Amino acid sequence: MKTNLSSSLPSQLETDCLVAITLDRSESDRNEKNKGENTKPSPSVESADAAVRDAAKELLSSGEVTAKPFETTLLHRPAGLKAKRLLLIGGGKAKNFSAAELRKLAGAAVRTLKGKSIRSFAIVLPEQALPEKGMGSEAVRAIVEGAFVGDFDPGYYKSDRKDKDKDNDQKLDAITIVVQGDAKSLESALQTGRIVAESQNFTRDLVNEPSNRMTPTILAERAKKMASEVGLQCEVYDADKIRQLKMGAFWGVAQGSDEPPALIVLRYDPTGAAKDVHLGLVGKGVTFDTGGISIKPADGMEKMKYDMAGAATMIGTMRAIALLKPKVKVTAVICATENMPSGKAQKPGDVQIAMSGKSIEIINTDAEGRLILADGLSYARQLGCTHLVDAATLTGAVVVALGYVNAGIFASDDQMYERFVSANRQAGEKMWRLPLDDEYKENLKSNIADMVNAGSRWGGAIFAAMFLKEFAEDTPWIHLDIAGTAWMEENKPWIAKGPSGIALRSLVEFVKGWSA
Ligand code: BES
Ligand code: MN
Ligand code: ZN
Repeated sequence: MKTNLSSSLPSQLETDCLVAITLDRSESDRNEKNKGENTKPSPSVESADAAVRDAAKELLSSGEVTAKPFETTLLHRPAGLKAKRLLLIGGGKAKNFSAAELRKLAGAAVRTLKGKSIRSFAIVLPEQALPEKGMGSEAVRAIVEGAFVGDFDPGYYKSDRKDKDKDNDQKLDAITIVVQGDAKSLESALQTGRIVAESQNFTRDLVNEPSNRMTPTILAERAKKMASEVGLQCEVYDADKIRQLKMGAFWGVAQGSDEPPALIVLRYDPTGAAKDVHLGLVGKGVTFDTGGISIKPADGMEKMKYDMAGAATMIGTMRAIALLKPKVKVTAVICATENMPSGKAQKPGDVQIAMSGKSIEIINTDAEGRLILADGLSYARQLGCTHLVDAATLTGAVVVALGYVNAGIFASDDQMYERFVSANRQAGEKMWRLPLDDEYKENLKSNIADMVNAGSRWGGAIFAAMFLKEFAEDTPWIHLDIAGTAWMEENKPWIAKGPSGIALRSLVEFVKGWSA
């Protein structure tokens, strides 16, 4: 997809379709007098160009357009515009409008127009609608990110899919963002948005593949290929090395599968980075989770191909970092394996000794993510990481707690949490903090070993996080449980059903925040 900035007047732009955002300005703070009285929608077209507003005037006065979120109205041969079509897309209440809304609207515009075989369009930057002046670059980024996210189509193995042939791509050809005044100053925002969004789609691409086409070995190959393209160091270690490192918890899971596991390490070590900061990103890469001997029910098991989303998120994050070049040292540790039942599989009651030396009684072989992450966290500490973040589709319990809307955040360190949250806000991803009180530690007790890997049903997401905390030890650490958010359960106006790429944007922003 080509991405362009244009500072021409929207009405003078020749394009297949001009996209403008409509907002409901009733009850808006610019209309103090009418507060509370005027509940009828008062839609406005967000463009400083009067010709664009005029073209939509009749539609607006007809009452057909209300500006409610994702409402789309397509006008052909709009009077006074050089564009062939005008697409109005609703952004909801003006007072709630932000870059996060804009990101979704751009995605919705892409999905709406692609559905009509329109492959290029121009979108008017709604400058008056932004809460603050100087938000132009944030808005440009949001539009680019949203457009790429909306362009992703998970139907890889449909026979009629045209992009199997590279010259006949099903993707959007080009998007132009129409800005007022100086486009040059927004160019870097456009490039940043592009890098982040392409990395997010790279992650979604990995997650989208079924487990027969995304084994630990293939995941490692994909990481290696990406690393060589963007200039990262990448090492891949096999089962021998995993045993040699005494990663008994990781190996305990991997031993049950005929597919060999992979320990993938990606390193980014720029010159000029702060000496005392070394970020560690640890990802859960279970390429298929059957549950092992504590096998899962058949119903819905096919979804467990996305149990490597945490790994894919960290690999995609490293890609974005390598291209954005913040001055901070970052290492990603990816633990990739299947979780299978077999004659070699670990069994409930087995005891495994983790890399840190702690012993674990395996109560449930389906609680495998925390086992592989335990050793991933220890290894990242051994490599010298001063701060750790892990991402994992770790528990069904986090879906019970937060549904499919928010990812769970756990943090052992409030300062690190504050940094993460401000990055998260910037990125416009939904996440919610859950607790790690010492009282929960009680549940980890085992009769035979230092801890059990699974406890009671209640507070299951917290239990899993408390378990991981034992291995992060005193290193400041954040755990992201993305089990409910890494996979979209249904199509949305702005994003297709399938892998979401959640957490990547927050992580990239978080890492950038440490740049020297
Ligand atoms: N991969 C699952 C968690 C999961 C559930 C991911 C739903 C995505 C959607 C994890 O390995 C798992 O099986 N967790 C168990 C733990 C339990 C056995 C203590 C769970 O949450 O049921
Ligand atoms: Mn499991
Ligand atoms: Zn799992």
